[in-house]
Amino acid sequence: MAEIKETAKVYGNSRLGEGVRIMDYTIIGMESRKRTGNGTAIGNGSTIRNHNCIYEDVEIGEGFQSGGLTQIREGVKIGDFSKVGTLCVIESNAMIGNHVNVQGHCNIGEGTVLEDGVFVGAMVTMVTDSKMDGNVKSCVVKAGARIGSNSTIVGGVRIGEGAIVGANSVVTNDIPAFTVACGMPARPVRKVTESDVREFQKNMLKDRMDLVSIFRKTR
Ligand SMILES: CC(C)(COP(=O)(O)OP(=O)(O)OC[C@H]1O[C@@H](n2cnc3c(N)ncnc32)[C@H](O)[C@@H]1OP(=O)(O)O)[C@@H](O)C(=O)NCCC(=O)NCCS
Repeated sequence: MAEIKETAKVYGNSRLGEGVRIMDYTIIGMESRKRTGNGTAIGNGSTIRNHNCIYEDVEIGEGFQSGGLTQIREGVKIGDFSKVGTLCVIESNAMIGNHVNVQGHCNIGEGTVLEDGVFVGAMVTMVTDSKMDGNVKSCVVKAGARIGSNSTIVGGVRIGEGAIVGANSVVTNDIPAFTVACGMPARPVRKVTESDVREFQKNMLKDRMDLVSIFRKTR
């Protein structure tokens, strides 16, 4: 059974799994412009913290955790055991994989893809309308890539598997797999080494996905 705090509200045909916790002042299944009334699905053991607003037609897997004051717009899909920190906005139709860690104050633009094991530092913005002319192009961040805090990723950019973006970078071009890129605009500074990957694997990914094998296949 789910635990829903007295001040929280669950709309539509929302489906809450076993052990789901909906904390104070949170709205689940918020009406979108389409008003589908479909509600939202949240998998077993997930915790949605205070003052979140999760729109209708969202699918969230098991063991998800959000920080307070986060918004997740309609059509978003999130896999298992992912985290979205405090004060984030996940725009409509974004696809977030398993074991993804999005730190606080991020804006993940419409249709962005964050594959399994991606780490997104605090205050990262993933833009979709680069020319501000109404043409939306979403970013794709491949498995196990890491994005340093306060970076901006311009619309349509693809960040390769296991790549690292330095803090405060502006990424205007694709970043190849297992490459460290930094600056404004971001330029490759070196290759990610096997020991970098092993450290990330040991401390953060643990046994959740095998980035070391993906790294070796790219050699
Ligand atoms: C990108 C990063 C991982 C590189 O670390 P590193 O491998 O130890 O690299 P180095 O410090 O040896 O730097 C390599 C070069 O890139 C430059 N560089 C490193 N980070 C940079 C950044 N964020 N912006 C611009 N240049 C950067 C260094 O000045 C150095 O240039 P040089 O060779 O001309 O001296 C690290 O600098 C970084 O930005 N980490 C992000 C941390 C973060 O945001 N964490 C979020 C969760 S807390």
